[in-house]
Amino acid sequence: MPRDDMTSLIQKIARQARITFKSCAASPLGEASTEFLENQGKLGSLLSEITAADLKIAPRKVDGSSVSVAHSPPVTYMHICENDAFSMGVFLLKSGSSIPLHDHPGMNGMLKVLYGKVRISCFDKLEQPPDAATEAQLNPPPLPYQNQALRRSILRSIGEYSEGSGPCVLTPHKDNLHQIDAVDGPTAFLDILAPPYDPDDGRDCHYYKVLQPVSLPPEPQEIWLLEIPQPAEFWCGGEAYPGPKVTL
Ligand SMILES: [Fe+2]
Repeated sequence: MPRDDMTSLIQKIARQARITFKSCAASPLGEASTEFLENQGKLGSLLSEITAADLKIAPRKVDGSSVSVAHSPPVTYMHICENDAFSMGVFLLKSGSSIPLHDHPGMNGMLKVLYGKVRISCFDKLEQPPDAATEAQLNPPPLPYQNQALRRSILRSIGEYSEGSGPCVLTPHKDNLHQIDAVDGPTAFLDILAPPYDPDDGRDCHYYKVLQPVSLPPEPQEIWLLEIPQPAEFWCGGEAYPGPKVTL
């Protein structure tokens, strides 16, 4: 491995992510220890420094308007590395695109914008199942077959993040559901998930639709969600990662 790659900021981030999340692979829902929080803080500091240039990614100003672009994916992912403890890569969102509301079951996450701006809406899922009063709260009321897919949640925050912002953090219990919208043009962010998604280990990605109007600015607000299949307008393509090599 070239010396430059060994000392790159993204390699340091990978090393710190491995240290921070090594115990999450064994016990993803375990209580956050002091040691974990210390390591998470160090990882957050490193993430705050990373730029698109560090990853040799040229910020995209416009998306173009040719037919081929119109049929290309609204979101692409550059895989950087993955082991049992965490996965790391870059999501690139076209102008006006969104990653719909989704969850990260039993997982931690850290997201750092590299260029452009995103709006992130964060929800906590509540375990309490829908009760008889639910139908009265929803207009229109859910159809009978939808009752199984109703989820109660709390909308925690809606915030905008750009290159100068610190990382946005999610945990198994806090801000675990989010929707990410590109604001004012294309955008990209570095994403760490720990442990990685793994449907065979109970960590599949689920998508949700918000069933109630959301007021702004939000106080923490109870919101009913409906679990839905992956929305047709959202799909994620792959792109080669051009930055320094990372070894785990
Ligand atoms: Fe996510």
